[in-house]
Amino acid sequence: MRIDKFLSQMGVGSRSEVKLLLKKGKIKLNDTIVKSPKLQINPNSDRLSVDDQLIAYEPYVYLMLHKPKGVISATEDDAHRTIIDLIKEYAHLNLFPVGRLDKDTEGLLLITNDGQFNHQLMSPNHHVPKTYYVETLNPIEDSAIACFKDGVILKEGKLKPAELQILNTKAAYVTITEGKFHQIKRMFHAVNNEVTYLKRIKIADLTLDNNLKLGEYRKLKPEEFSLLGLAFNEDEI
Ligand code: URA
Repeated sequence: MRIDKFLSQMGVGSRSEVKLLLKKGKIKLNDTIVKSPKLQINPNSDRLSVDDQLIAYEPYVYLMLHKPKGVISATEDDAHRTIIDLIKEYAHLNLFPVGRLDKDTEGLLLITNDGQFNHQLMSPNHHVPKTYYVETLNPIEDSAIACFKDGVILKEGKLKPAELQILNTKAAYVTITEGKFHQIKRMFHAVNNEVTYLKRIKIADLTLDNNLKLGEYRKLKPEEFSLLGLAFNEDEI
């Protein structure tokens, strides 16, 4: 991998900031000052330092988890099991969930240690659609379709349009592009209903793998990055 790309991915700075550090003679490769951003390095065997501070190599990981109920989308918690407890073999890589699902929500949760990947999927400016399967206490009125499309009004203000596809009297798919706190549950409250079961089934065009049982996970496949509207990161492990 090119040295400037590697250092930038390890969080040293942007590609241009890294180039400047190289130019200033601040970067050492195996104890020798190097200046070319094009230099090829092997992240597994070469030692790199910035201002004599060794840079630890943390490869990127991208996982798809079928989150079960009762597990919280956090990296640490004193009282509850977290999603990190489910992916123990990767725990040393500082992974975190891409967005959050409530403790009682099941379904598709992506987990990574790539901050940029997280930002591209979760930033409200990127409007990435997320689809949920919902079951409700009361029958879902047809009028909720227009309500969701117009933008439900919550205490924070008006939501972006959401798509409601009614499957039967008490079940539906809902697609939202934001991720406000308890958003789907509060949207149904706004139309005098209550969510009794919630499962995320899709992010952009990436669907939860049917072969994953609750609590199971697997690495994302290269072709699945494009379903998320992203390029595959060749530096993943
Ligand atoms: N909306 C909710 O209410 N809960 C979730 O977990 C996700 C979306």
